[in-house]
Amino acid sequence: MIIGHSLLNLRDRDMTADGIDGMERFESPGKGRGLRVTRAYRVGELLFVCPAYSHVLSVSERGYTCEHCFARKEGLSKCGKCKKAFYCNVECQRGDWAMHKLECSAMCSFGESWCPSETVRLVARIISRMQKVPKERSDSEKLLLLKDLEGNLDKLDNEKREMNEADIAELHHFYSKHLDFPDHQALLTLFAQVHCNGFTVEDEELSHVGSAVFPDVALMNHSCCPNVIVTYRGTSAEVRAVKDISPGMEVYTSYIDLLYPTEDRMERLRDSYYFTCDCKECKTKSKDKVKLKLRKVNGDEPRSEEIREMLRYARNAIEDFRRAKQEKTPAELLEICELSMDKMGSMFEDSNVYMLHMMYQAMGVCMYMEDYDGAVSYGEKVIKPFRQLYPAYSLNVASMYLKLGRLYTVLDRLSAGSAALKKALAIMEVVHGKDHVYVKELQKQISTHQK
Ligand SMILES: C[S@@+](CC[C@H](N)C(=O)[O-])C[C@H]1O[C@@H](n2cnc3c(N)ncnc32)[C@H](O)[C@@H]1O
Ligand SMILES: [Zn+2]
Ligand SMILES: [Zn+2]
Ligand SMILES: [Zn+2]
Repeated sequence: MIIGHSLLNLRDRDMTADGIDGMERFESPGKGRGLRVTRAYRVGELLFVCPAYSHVLSVSERGYTCEHCFARKEGLSKCGKCKKAFYCNVECQRGDWAMHKLECSAMCSFGESWCPSETVRLVARIISRMQKVPKERSDSEKLLLLKDLEGNLDKLDNEKREMNEADIAELHHFYSKHLDFPDHQALLTLFAQVHCNGFTVEDEELSHVGSAVFPDVALMNHSCCPNVIVTYRGTSAEVRAVKDISPGMEVYTSYIDLLYPTEDRMERLRDSYYFTCDCKECKTKSKDKVKLKLRKVNGDEPRSEEIREMLRYARNAIEDFRRAKQEKTPAELLEICELSMDKMGSMFEDSNVYMLHMMYQAMGVCMYMEDYDGAVSYGEKVIKPFRQLYPAYSLNVASMYLKLGRLYTVLDRLSAGSAALKKALAIMEVVHGKDHVYVKELQKQISTHQK
């Protein structure tokens, strides 16, 4: 009897998901499914690792990063046929062929007019993988299957529906030779799921590397006061605690940039993820006043109507700049930043998030133009308010220290460089883990300063 019983258990276990130690999926009131811990986790502790179900390297990273394993290094070898995909070695090239073959010959035949969006490229890969192993539960889906991802299909408005239709048309246009497509409804569902659950993979300076889906990571709901952060190691996602988490507590990550005030965060979350956040910060708006810090003119605060007008200007300026980035020269972009800062500066303090946004953009443009002094001067203005406005462990703060540290180093300001790099290191040891290649490289950089 005993033997029979344990055999039965064994079989049960084989047939169901293994799950993830220390975690469980549950119904989170008002939030759909969610993830919670079954034991305590301390700050810096790894909750789990999730390999990408599918991933795609950004076109702008070609030549610098391996398409297959996302290692960034020199001396990558290129695909002999299309000469557009680059790999560490033959193993990576072979490993990637099942995905690369969706694009290799198409890129040759389309030539200059090959331009599918990154989302379309990712979806093509997902479809190809789904067709290959249709029934098996992969290591990326221990708690949530890709096919069960939330798509919020009932909440899409006409504009979103049209965007999905355009994506589907693009998919057919660029991938029809090498892919059997599921029916139209299934494609609509898949695009909606990828929009709600897809991840952009970023490097240590928060530069875009690629896109991926990690179903188990997508089980986590959002909070503007998150208790975990997601980082990447190659093509895997890692989830680490940035607050102590007690048994039974829900695990929350942030889906958005937490710099901005409540109204802006709410709009972003509603527009992209179709929910209203009810976290502590959204209820109390405790940081909003500092985030919108105003200048006093002759001892008086501006009138509320004037403030509203300037806020409208600031939000439009952000959107205009985002668009301008695609078409304007760096010099023109810098001018746009400076003009908008001049205008906003009459009412907003330098630590106001809309000023910070433009300074951050200006810093990026200066770095691109190799104007390192210009970049440093913007970075120095941004870093202190960043520390104050972002949570204690923040990738945005770490990457800003890192950029500043590297800029000081290039400018031969070694002690300032080493101080900034150490601040980046303190955060990255917690959010990336002490054995991460970014952390190791940073430690090496700091130690060469001290020699
Ligand atoms: C990446 S999924 C997270 C897992 C999801 N709850 C599920 O059941 O699959 C994102 C979706 O979860 C829901 N969600 C996430 N965070 C939420 C929150 N704080 N409040 C309400 N709904 C939330 C929204 O529907 C959102 O589009
Ligand atoms: Zn590789
Ligand atoms: Zn190729
Ligand atoms: Zn919130």
